Amino acid sequence: MGNDVKLDIEARFEHARDVIRDAGKRAMKYYDGTAGDLEIEAKENALDMVSIADKNVEAIIRDRIADSFPEDGFLGEEMGIEKGDNDCLWVIDPIDGTACFVNQMPSWCISLALVVDNEIVLGLIYHPCGDELFTARLGEGAFANGEPIKASSAKTVGDGLLGLGMSHRTKSDEITGFIKELLDREGIFVRNGSGALMMAYAAAGRLIGYYEPHINPWDCMAGIILMREAGGWANDYLGVPDVLENGAPILTAGPDVAEELKTMSGVTQ
Ligand code: IPD
Ligand code: CA
Ligand code: CA
Repeated sequence: MGNDVKLDIEARFEHARDVIRDAGKRAMKYYDGTAGDLEIEAKENALDMVSIADKNVEAIIRDRIADSFPEDGFLGEEMGIEKGDNDCLWVIDPIDGTACFVNQMPSWCISLALVVDNEIVLGLIYHPCGDELFTARLGEGAFANGEPIKASSAKTVGDGLLGLGMSHRTKSDEITGFIKELLDREGIFVRNGSGALMMAYAAAGRLIGYYEPHINPWDCMAGIILMREAGGWANDYLGVPDVLENGAPILTAGPDVAEELKTMSGVTQ
């Protein structure tokens, strides 16, 4: 990491906290139907609405960051990759939990992370409906609305709830086999529709961890640093070749349940 960038991480963090809250306010206007000035009346259905919301919220985040840090690059779910003139890459999911957002359920969030030289240095996940902001800085711990958070102290998968994600990007038996194993070990899972939000809850110890056979970088980058800074374990997602293009499996876990989940999932490093 170059010195100039290192010195600016704190400024980037402060700025990102403002940006993600403002982006959350804008997303809420689409969610609660008050975004009348934002061109959605012309659209016919909820899917149109969500695609406009996704794009506009990502655009707000990019524009605000670019105004303050014009050399930084971006990778977002909606607008793809835009290389910067330095080693900073902001990774954005403007709305994670789209299916919930569009069906008027509150478990959706905004996920924003900063990667420098292939290392995650900042992670922010904002849950507008609960007004809860999860933040982590490399080496500085993890927080929810400014209060320190800690990963679960569960000793076995039977000791709590596991967050589980699934999508049609993988074959169904990849997840059904895991679920059978979990139930046989007296474990249980939740899936709330937002991988990023479940990863934040895992960092806060509300869930014992999070597993998904395939996830994209914008879904999980902030959740990874949150879990590590909360004292838990996360697999070396960025160590997977071409992961920014193709995605990879994700596993995060409280420190004492990580070995069991690694064995069960096959995600070992
Ligand atoms: C999806 C959600 C879902 C997870 C998928 C993601 P989206 O993101 O996080 O929980 O299982 O892998 O693609 O489409 O709601 O932004
Ligand atoms: Ca997502
Ligand atoms: Ca999304």
